[in-house]
Amino acid sequence: LKKLAVDGEPGGLATYDPGFVNTASCRSAITFIDGDEGILEYRGYPIEQLAEHSTYLEVAYLLLNGELPDREQLDDWVHEVTYHTFLHENLKQFIQGFRYDAHPMGMLMASVSALSTFYPDARDVLDADARKLQITRMIAKMPTLGAFAFRHGMGRPYVYPDNDLSYTENFLAMLFKMSERKYNADPRLVKALEVLFILHADHEQNCSTNAVRSVGSSQVDPYSAVGAGIGALYGPLHGGANEAVLRMLREVKTVDRIPEFIDGVKNGKEKLMGFGHRVYKNYDPRAKIIKKACDDVFEVTGVNPLLEIAMELEKIALEDEYFVKRRLYPNVDFYSGLIYEALGFSPEMFTVLFAIPRTSGWLAQWEELITDKEQKIARPKQIYTGYRTRDFVPLDQR
Ligand code: ACO
Repeated sequence: LKKLAVDGEPGGLATYDPGFVNTASCRSAITFIDGDEGILEYRGYPIEQLAEHSTYLEVAYLLLNGELPDREQLDDWVHEVTYHTFLHENLKQFIQGFRYDAHPMGMLMASVSALSTFYPDARDVLDADARKLQITRMIAKMPTLGAFAFRHGMGRPYVYPDNDLSYTENFLAMLFKMSERKYNADPRLVKALEVLFILHADHEQNCSTNAVRSVGSSQVDPYSAVGAGIGALYGPLHGGANEAVLRMLREVKTVDRIPEFIDGVKNGKEKLMGFGHRVYKNYDPRAKIIKKACDDVFEVTGVNPLLEIAMELEKIALEDEYFVKRRLYPNVDFYSGLIYEALGFSPEMFTVLFAIPRTSGWLAQWEELITDKEQKIARPKQIYTGYRTRDFVPLDQR
């Protein structure tokens, strides 16, 4: 294209594709999505099968290594992750320095980036062993960082990891343990959290993964690259949508106010958060699984009263011409917040619960990027629309 001359355009013909709607930034063998059919596969395995039969750490291994682990490989991997769950005490103090009402995503983004200063070996991104160590460290420490951010907001003392527990049990204990007694989470809640973590583990070239790849392409350390990914995830059009959905449902308040709310959406006053997706033009397969998980969680916690509003909103939207014409369906964020709230999280924590499991996907994509000989530093072209050369005007003459 560069060689195809176009009148008046320096540098030849270029594609102009804001938001990369039709531009592939990489080749990837990790996650497959068919948005028209509503299919999601990690390394070829359907998400429905992984959610039913697997654990989060098993899926993380699959994303990172390309194959499911055998028993010995899984035991070794779980052991390695468990070994790295603790944080340096200075990092704890770093988190303590935030305001009492700091947003946990802000705390997570800053503290993950700060990890780079604790591990100078992370800068050696061309060394495979050093990369593996950082990947293990980050996956191990994310729940600890997320839980510390949560407890900071509550003004409660931080709970250190309990390495006798599984990845998700340990996370729940660090979040909710209130006494010296061992924390025993309900196995149905542990299972639901495992499922949610599996569903959020990867989603090919979404905004945050693209941020990790883009920043990682400069060969900066992975903590800095993942810090950038967390920033991208924080936004309400991406991972921040789960928080926005809950606020929206609370605002709608009662089922009889739904038609008025939908009219507002259709008139462009606001968006129906948790609806629509760049790739899915069909029901997001993750939303289907989450909807089912709601039942299991509500069996333990009692039904979240906002569920009725969410289900009615969905029903009305799926029959309304505005949404049908634009092929807008519930996405992963539409129902996840209802579960998180029932589990005892405030909306600010919802996106943290997305970032923790997405770390394995970000790092699998980062590893693929670093080892891909075809990849170059991300540096998109622009279509320049500004002035050309003109003379400087002194201040007193402007
Ligand atoms: N509510 C109302 N209208 C919508 C919505 C929505 N949630 N989503 C898209 N539309 C409309 C747009 O206004 C546009 O209408 P138009 O053609 O009349 O202008 C049309 O549908 C196409 O939408 P785009 O914005 O062009 O779609 P895009 O692929 O750029 O955006 C996105 C996708 C950002 C997810 C969008 O659907 C959205 O903002 N949804 C709400 C936020 C959300 O739930 N985000 C989470 C996504 S999943 C995730 O990141 C984990």
